Amino acid sequence: MTHNNHSENLSMMDTVTTKYGKTTFVTVSKSLAIILLVIFFICLIVTGLLTYSFTSTCGSKNDTDVNSEVIISQEKSEPLKCNENLITTTTTTTSTTPKIPRKFLNENLNIRLPEHIKPHSYQINLIPFIQEGNFTFHGEETILINVSKNSNHITLHSDSLLIDSVNVMNINNESVSVKDVRMDTKRQFLIIDLDGFLQANKQYYVYIQFKGVLNNMLEGFYRSSYVENNITRWLAATQFQATDARKAFPCFDEPAFKAKFQINIARMKNMTAISNMPRIDTTDDVKHLPDYVWDHFQESLPMSTYLVAFVVSDFQNISRGIFSVWARPSALSQAKFAVEIGPMILKYYEKFFGIDYPLPKIDMVAIPDFSEGAMENWGLITYREAVLLYEKGISSTASKQRIAHVVAHELAHQWFGNLVTPTWWEDLWLNEGFATYVEFLGSYSVNPKWKDLDLFLVSELHESLILDALKSSHPISVKVNNPDEINDIFDRISYSKGASIIRMMKGFLGDEVFHLALQKYLKNRMYKNAEQDDLWQTLTEESLEIKALPNNVSVKEIMDTWTLQTGYPVVTANKQQNGDLIINQQRYLLDRNNAVTTDQCLWWVPITIMDSMGTVSETWLKKEKEILVEQAISPEIPWYLINVQQNGYYRVNYDEQNWKSLINQLQGNGHRLIQSTNRAQMIDDAMNLAFAGYLSYDIALNVTLYLTNEREYVPWKAAITNLQFLHKMFIRSGYFDKFKIYLISILRDFYIELTFKESSNEDPTRVLNRMEIIDYACKLGLKDCVLQAVQQFQNWRNSANPDKENLINPDLRQTVYCTAISDGGQEEWEFAWNRYLNTNVATDKEILLTSLACSKDIWILSRFLERSLTENSGIRKHDIARVFASVSENPVGHDLAYRFMKINWDRIREYLGPSSMFMSSLVRSSTDKFNTEEEVNDFKSFFERKKEQFGVAVRTAQQSLEQAEANTKWMKEYFNTVKNWLENVRIIS
Ligand SMILES: *[C@@H]1O[C@H](CO)[C@@H](O)[C@H](O)[C@H]1NC(C)=O
Ligand SMILES: *[C@@H]1O[C@H](CO)[C@@H](O)[C@H](O)[C@H]1NC(C)=O
Ligand SMILES: [Zn+2]
Repeated sequence: MTHNNHSENLSMMDTVTTKYGKTTFVTVSKSLAIILLVIFFICLIVTGLLTYSFTSTCGSKNDTDVNSEVIISQEKSEPLKCNENLITTTTTTTSTTPKIPRKFLNENLNIRLPEHIKPHSYQINLIPFIQEGNFTFHGEETILINVSKNSNHITLHSDSLLIDSVNVMNINNESVSVKDVRMDTKRQFLIIDLDGFLQANKQYYVYIQFKGVLNNMLEGFYRSSYVENNITRWLAATQFQATDARKAFPCFDEPAFKAKFQINIARMKNMTAISNMPRIDTTDDVKHLPDYVWDHFQESLPMSTYLVAFVVSDFQNISRGIFSVWARPSALSQAKFAVEIGPMILKYYEKFFGIDYPLPKIDMVAIPDFSEGAMENWGLITYREAVLLYEKGISSTASKQRIAHVVAHELAHQWFGNLVTPTWWEDLWLNEGFATYVEFLGSYSVNPKWKDLDLFLVSELHESLILDALKSSHPISVKVNNPDEINDIFDRISYSKGASIIRMMKGFLGDEVFHLALQKYLKNRMYKNAEQDDLWQTLTEESLEIKALPNNVSVKEIMDTWTLQTGYPVVTANKQQNGDLIINQQRYLLDRNNAVTTDQCLWWVPITIMDSMGTVSETWLKKEKEILVEQAISPEIPWYLINVQQNGYYRVNYDEQNWKSLINQLQGNGHRLIQSTNRAQMIDDAMNLAFAGYLSYDIALNVTLYLTNEREYVPWKAAITNLQFLHKMFIRSGYFDKFKIYLISILRDFYIELTFKESSNEDPTRVLNRMEIIDYACKLGLKDCVLQAVQQFQNWRNSANPDKENLINPDLRQTVYCTAISDGGQEEWEFAWNRYLNTNVATDKEILLTSLACSKDIWILSRFLERSLTENSGIRKHDIARVFASVSENPVGHDLAYRFMKINWDRIREYLGPSSMFMSSLVRSSTDKFNTEEEVNDFKSFFERKKEQFGVAVRTAQQSLEQAEANTKWMKEYFNTVKNWLENVRIIS
């Protein structure tokens, strides 16, 4: 799945990127910390927790497990030491972040299905009534089950369905009498009690008749609509991942319960039904419904329930080969780009994975209401319109790239996820990490000019390093139990950290080993499930042949340090007089005094060193604290760099001398000697190290001085992301002018060079740079920028038919709209609102919606928030997170959005559904700028009062609090340092 406005998004996949701020930790006095640590380890031993999850609580269960075996295995499980459960312990005593309620875990409720009954195949008939005033569906299904143990009941999943009747039969169609049918609502179980016993090693049929509602919560089997020729048209679609297939039909709704699906859908004659497999027949024997016909679909290959999908609509499609792209009729012309790249990427993957795409067709559908970005259902991929539909001359270059990425991501899942599926959600990261990594290759394969492989740094790696420095981060491989916990891990850690450590692994194993092992792994487990250890096993076998790894070490040994431990190391290098290099590692924590916990955490770190002559050498930190690399650098060499191309998932700090030499090297044209990826790395590392107190701000800010001469996208993007943090801290202070003067002075030359005009056939990364630089120049209030933007907007307003004529460069529309709306008043706003309502292009709608949040009139923003929470206001439910994020980003709107969220908390929960993933996004964005104790305390008390209702957003709330606390601390400790630097800096350009 690809998210849209939730924590996972690629920065370029979403213009409203949810930014993770920097965070630090609350200091715990040393003696207290030691006591806590002791308590912690006692707890570990007593409870015998074998989980790596930070969520494990002390003394809650399994007291009977105290035995020597457990204790021994604890000693062996080194990574555990790093996943301090100290989070919950320290916080209660120092009154920082409230504890995460772990009600399900504490109750010790086992929500997993029993294993002795497995589905072999489903035959499902569904009749959706897509009519105003009805919006329900009737269904019946026959599940053929395999029984491996005598049993007098059958347990499967069902949620929000009305069960009309249940029959159980043996393979000869002889009835097995049903004693009772009951629901265990907490576990969403449908339990069928039988009078007799099902026999082991026999097959049975389970027949169930049921009814459901085509809901408007964008999950399960739901309804969506659009307006054409002033008529509202309805459709029905599905979104099942992770646990919502059970809302459409009773089923064994866990990824390991793969089965074959034969689906039949009754639809109105003027509509179309599509599903995972091709339609094989249509019959008109729908009882009592003369306007309906049955569509019968071919039986599927063995697959997981969460990948089943169907869409009933009056959409049309365009096709190429086995690909069809579906959209509402008036948007169909926007499907060209997707239908062009889809087959290209598929072909690339067939070669890359060494396995042909196994299904006869692929449909890709643009659904007007869609909670996520996209969903990889096997053979029927669903998208929100803005990540599939592209209109030349209206959609931006960034949109085009985002579409290529999302298509590439979902197509990668057809192998990684659909063909081979994680056994349980704790290995979700395998799915999402791989798809996220491979999407860059897939996108690169269709347009190398985008330089996707470099963009990986700013889109995934840097974003992940920020979140993963939080204590409330989590190991990539995480125990999950109930649906809220499962939904909670569809986050940056699973996606971006997953992708980053896969990229790192490819780096140290080499392309060939990586590639061969991957193909072997997929071939061996087709139509089945797998765990991360299966992948490590195959990679180890392959690497032994080529001797890609240090002696006797397995891929598992290395990768366990990255997947089972929270966080990552900062590698510090010190060059000695004689050219030796001392390299050590410690966990990167935003409070570097928190060494008590970090000493325990060690990783297998692949080290690459490049010196100023371009010589590269490699070594390992083998899960050891420190190494000495003799004669690593000749003494006369001026500088060296570690982590070439930032392949490794870690930060690097140097001795002061080396930092100074690097800063010197960057000046003038000298920066070109260092590749752009490493320039981006230096900026990102330096600024983050300074935040946490590992490096002085004087050095970190001096790194940014060379930007006057920087013309590449990736370093600029890294710089702007980091400078935006300072921006946030200065914008409400009395010293913003200082910050502004510095920023304008480093980007002015580039701004003048770029101009508002694009030349034909410009490099796409230059286009992206223009977007970033001009947008930032206007945000900083650079006069020329604001004047041009306002002028262009007024020209548009004056055109005879603004809905048809818009001469503004598509790549600068967001900047132009936002600047003009911010500079203007109600008239400008209403004009943009009307364009928003009228446009037929979803990417344009998104940009307009984002820009509407730029108003400086607080009442307008208030009305805007209100509309986002109102049915039929013109703002779709799936855009609420975008509205909140954009209003929060506006300094005028930030407090307003937070207050609005608090006041309307119950209403929001009701509108979105209590376990909606949008809640996380609202919480994160509306607390994003907090940097005072007042704000922290206010949010903390709100969180404490409503804790039980945070559901899927609990971890986000905790992360937001940590961030706000860190910002507060930063203001006290570093604000003046940065202010002084800004006052004294001299720019030579
Ligand atoms: C919806 O329409 C179908 C077919 O006419 C009918 O059987 C069903 O009872 C209706 N449901 C509701 C809730 O009106
Ligand atoms: C669209 O329909 C609404 C309500 O039926 C009506 O008030 C409006 O005038 C119609 N607009 C057009 C352009 O036909
Ligand atoms: Zn995905």
